[in-house]
Amino acid sequence: MFRKIIKIAGVILSGILLIGVLVYGKVYFSTEKRIRKVYKVVPEKIHVPTDAATLALGARLVTAKGCRSCHGEDLGGRILIDKPMTLGVIVAKNITKGKGGLPKDFSAEDWVLALKHGINKKKNSLLVMPSYGFAKLTAKDIAAIIAYCAQLPAIDHELPVSKVGPLARVLTDLGKIKFLAAERVDHDQAFAEEISPSLSVEYGKYLAVMCQSCHGENMKGGAPLSSGAPPVANISSTGKPGRWTDEQFITTLRTGKTPEGKQLRMPWQMGAAMTDLELKALHLYLNSL
Ligand code: HEC
Ligand code: HEC
Repeated sequence: MFRKIIKIAGVILSGILLIGVLVYGKVYFSTEKRIRKVYKVVPEKIHVPTDAATLALGARLVTAKGCRSCHGEDLGGRILIDKPMTLGVIVAKNITKGKGGLPKDFSAEDWVLALKHGINKKKNSLLVMPSYGFAKLTAKDIAAIIAYCAQLPAIDHELPVSKVGPLARVLTDLGKIKFLAAERVDHDQAFAEEISPSLSVEYGKYLAVMCQSCHGENMKGGAPLSSGAPPVANISSTGKPGRWTDEQFITTLRTGKTPEGKQLRMPWQMGAAMTDLELKALHLYLNSL
């Protein structure tokens, strides 16, 4: 009797195991196909001026658009996720020309591929890089970012290559996470039209693309982005910033401390690189939602 139960349990268990292996096999091959997909995208030509004003704009944008919060303060690269058994190893590359960095012949077109399309030199999708936000920038802003990054001092920093882990594959297959940068971009859209700085909702909206990656399309926030992280705040008109003055909003994004006395863990340094006018326009836009 007892042996029979063990035998049946064994059969059921191996059945479950087999189904598990088959399901994961399907997930593995379908995500592998997406990871290895070669994008036939031809990057837009871009003129990259190298005058002082362009470099200064680039330096500011590299902070304001979050490049430093992922690629490290000196842009020498950083490991973002190190969970090989679950999510995988996600490394924001060394984007200087030092050892472990970008190849010496990384051209303006290669930069456009990475920034505007989320694609690497081999024409595969980059992982995690928020190119769908950068894809909405003007040619002027993209060129300034390229100009600044291309002249960075070389930093020797060799890091492992990114690798998608099994849990990330399952979540990607289910559509729960968006790991593949190129899948989120409309590759046919042109550079955004030139927009001059002004205290307008339209300009605020242009500046807000980078906030959307965490706060969501409608800026209403939601669940934590990863385990151990705080829930994402509602920063639309119905959230706390809707009750703040422009000055309070500016101080929050310059210091990381809210009028309620909360120390923010989000990369508020992005906001610290924005001008008063930019932050006021951003606040105006958020209050319009
Ligand atoms: C949310 C984090 C994040 C932000 C913000 C971010 N990156 Fe990345 N970036 C990554 C990751 C991760 C990779 C490596 C992807 C991979 O290995 O597939 C990457 C790769 C790159 C590459 C390498 C392309 C190649 O061909 O290998 C360049 C260049 C780059 N990023 C530039 C930038 C610049 C410039 C900015 C700011 C405008 C920026 N990134 C913002 C995460 C980020
Ligand atoms: C990497 C994800 C991420 C990005 C990008 C991001 N935020 Fe946040 N933000 C958060 C999270 C999470 C919180 C919740 C509290 C915390 O940070 O500790 C938050 C909180 C805030 C708060 C405080 C709200 C409150 O109720 O106290 C403000 C204001 C804010 N964000 C504005 C912005 C703006 C403006 C941008 C774009 C320039 C932006 N955030 C980009 C994740 C992000």
